[in-house]
Amino acid sequence: MKHHSLFKAISLATSIAVLSACSSSSTESSLQGSAFKGPVDNALVEVKDASGNLLASGSSSAGTFKINDFELPDGAIFISTQNGSYTDEATGNPVSLSGNGLMTVFTRSELRQLMDKNTYIAMTPETTLLAKLVKEKMAAGDSPEDAIAAAKQLIKTQLIDGTNPAGIAGDDILMTGNLSSAIPADEKEALARNRAISYSYQAKNMNLNPSQVFEMIDKQVADLEDGLLDGKDTTGAALNITDKDGSDIDLSSVELKTEFGMARSQLMGNTINRLMAGELSDAETAELGQMGFDTSFMNQNDEANQQAAATTEANLQATNLPAFKNLPVLIDEDNNPDDAQATYTLTATPDVNVTIEAPGTSWNTTMLRYNGLQLPPVIKVNRGDAMTLNLVNELDADTTIHWHGFKIPGDQDGGPDFPVTAGGSKTYQFTMQQPAASLWFHPHPDMKTGEQVYRGLAGVYLLDDAISQQLVADKNLPASDYDIPMLIQDRRFADEVSGSKELLYMDKPMDADGMYGDDILVNGVKLPKLDVETRQYRFRIYNTSNARTYDFALHDGSNFTVIGTDGGLLETPVVTNHIMLGAAERAEIVIDFSQYSVGDKVMLISRPFNGSAMMAMSGMGGMDMSNMGGMNNMQSMSGNNASADMGYSLLNGMRTDIMRFDIATAVTDDVTLYSQLPANADIITERLTEADADKTRNFIMSMDMSSMSSGGAMKFVINGKSFDMDRIDETITLSEGDTEIWSIRNMSPMAHPFHAHAIQWQILDRNGVPATGVDLGWKDTVLVQPGETVRFIGRFDPVVNSGDYMYHCHILEHEDAGMMGFFRIQ
Ligand code: C2O
Ligand code: CU
Ligand code: CU
Repeated sequence: MKHHSLFKAISLATSIAVLSACSSSSTESSLQGSAFKGPVDNALVEVKDASGNLLASGSSSAGTFKINDFELPDGAIFISTQNGSYTDEATGNPVSLSGNGLMTVFTRSELRQLMDKNTYIAMTPETTLLAKLVKEKMAAGDSPEDAIAAAKQLIKTQLIDGTNPAGIAGDDILMTGNLSSAIPADEKEALARNRAISYSYQAKNMNLNPSQVFEMIDKQVADLEDGLLDGKDTTGAALNITDKDGSDIDLSSVELKTEFGMARSQLMGNTINRLMAGELSDAETAELGQMGFDTSFMNQNDEANQQAAATTEANLQATNLPAFKNLPVLIDEDNNPDDAQATYTLTATPDVNVTIEAPGTSWNTTMLRYNGLQLPPVIKVNRGDAMTLNLVNELDADTTIHWHGFKIPGDQDGGPDFPVTAGGSKTYQFTMQQPAASLWFHPHPDMKTGEQVYRGLAGVYLLDDAISQQLVADKNLPASDYDIPMLIQDRRFADEVSGSKELLYMDKPMDADGMYGDDILVNGVKLPKLDVETRQYRFRIYNTSNARTYDFALHDGSNFTVIGTDGGLLETPVVTNHIMLGAAERAEIVIDFSQYSVGDKVMLISRPFNGSAMMAMSGMGGMDMSNMGGMNNMQSMSGNNASADMGYSLLNGMRTDIMRFDIATAVTDDVTLYSQLPANADIITERLTEADADKTRNFIMSMDMSSMSSGGAMKFVINGKSFDMDRIDETITLSEGDTEIWSIRNMSPMAHPFHAHAIQWQILDRNGVPATGVDLGWKDTVLVQPGETVRFIGRFDPVVNSGDYMYHCHILEHEDAGMMGFFRIQ
């Protein structure tokens, strides 16, 4: 269906472009149009010929205008607005257009035809850019037709192509349409509105006043004169714009096209968030539908979340929850835990028969495990320990062990560049040179990481140091039995057959977008309960799911304290009532059960959030769905048996119960949680600021639809590239500077957890807002929302960092499909 409407849109555009000799004027006809940044009110609308002679005028109201028929001269005809006002969507500020205006341009025959058909013409920021470029080109001697064609092509290639966060095809410059109407005529028109409003977001992101959108357009005119949007004029001199605080922005240092794409992604993200929050008007919702979003899906999601809240009430009463399981701790093979040497062997074992406990039931399934264990193992070591870690590969495929979050040499890092073949083995050796942290390990073979992790290979690696040990000794941290790692992983199982359920992986086409399941396992158990005492517990929450994001919270909204992130303890604990973790992120939280009484029960849940933008994109406007493999399944999402097609029904972001705490025993707590780490903690002594950086690198995560037209799957890429084992994407030369800012930008419609090996980072800012709270901790993985830019800073350590490492999205299906790059440290 969508294919057809795109086709229609293209043929309409073509017929407009055809020059027609017919110019019989009908007295009925008039010039109708829309003036849209937001809908422009009360502007003077003027029609002029190429020499500036006034032909007719009128005024705009709520974004539309109508001017009675007039005599059309030959050549280009310019239509423009003056004065008037509109509401800036990014800031909500009223903007007065005094001195600024929108414009557009047509040839005589184009305009005659549109007027005769009573077609609305559109004035937007882009048509304004167009008209101004046409003026310049005509002044340089181009014919109106040539000037218009060339300017359109410039805008399309330099600004619009590739900047649609959803990768929608046919997203080119739109000259006609009633853009002031909240329900546009077709998808293209909705997209044109999206672009028009994105100018507002771009101005906001660049710290400009809303009215400076027009200044920006003028800069782009000067910029595009040489055919390249590069922030430079024809002489090669950088263009500048003064932001609202009076600082000069050198536009040649800004990727203007990327900024525009990011603004579009942000607008789309914000709009979906508003939809999910029920804040959109019916008309706006309909418009989102026109842009290809399945808005009924959103409502369905909402109902499911309400149902899940009722389920929590039932689960709080349930008497059949299985018991929480602690993970098995491996023992140092040299039998001396204190000698700063530690040796462990991890045998990747196939066909392990694992029992999965669930409320009121259990089943067997076949998994891959380390050492044939039922559950992922825990390795506990101290800072400074020299590690010897033997991997024995009993699988019938390549594997590796990647040490996630470790600061170690590239050849010990266990990336896909050092595979251990079936039946083979490898010894990893390195020394722990980083602060106490909740690290982990998992396989990382080329294109098989997702499957091997999913099928059961992962482990916990708890690193201690003098500071964490002192905090425990001083009773400033809950310890031993009150310090509990928990791996959260969602899984999908087939129907039960004589006590067994097959563990399913990638059995549905949509799974290429991320593997999700309805069974959320905590240390291998579905919805367990843990009997707790009325005291503080330290939980190390690992999101080791392949794709799912969780927003952890207690069902009653109580606060807890976050004390640690991926790479170690926070300098200052942060009290909050929820924490969102993307795949591979960790958080250490302290829950104080002394606020409860014996007999109380409290549920750890994942709060609802907007996590299914991709799902909502059923029938994206202009997409050729017939070629989209998995995307076909989305079309049925608005039906009632969505789950039947998806292989799961618990969509990413939907509320769900995780585990229950049963307050069982009254005790007196002897722990007083630390309020600040000692001054010699790395997070304090190595705190970096922007001024410390030697270099900034940019990473853009985007959706690449190009392979889809040839029948391939939708892909996510980093800096436009898919992973290539034979290509080094970034080279870091330590002698030239070891401290770098990495700016991670998400120009796609879904969140991606960006992970880099080799280093622990500190977040500087998100969309320019300086990091606070939990963001001040060490991070190896950062969830980046659509339209978001996260900048983090880190120092590569010459003692441990050398060789090749990966950066990638930690949605493992994205990673395996190529959303990954190599970086070399030399
Ligand atoms: Cu945990 Cu390269 O990944
Ligand atoms: Cu890693
Ligand atoms: Cu991703």
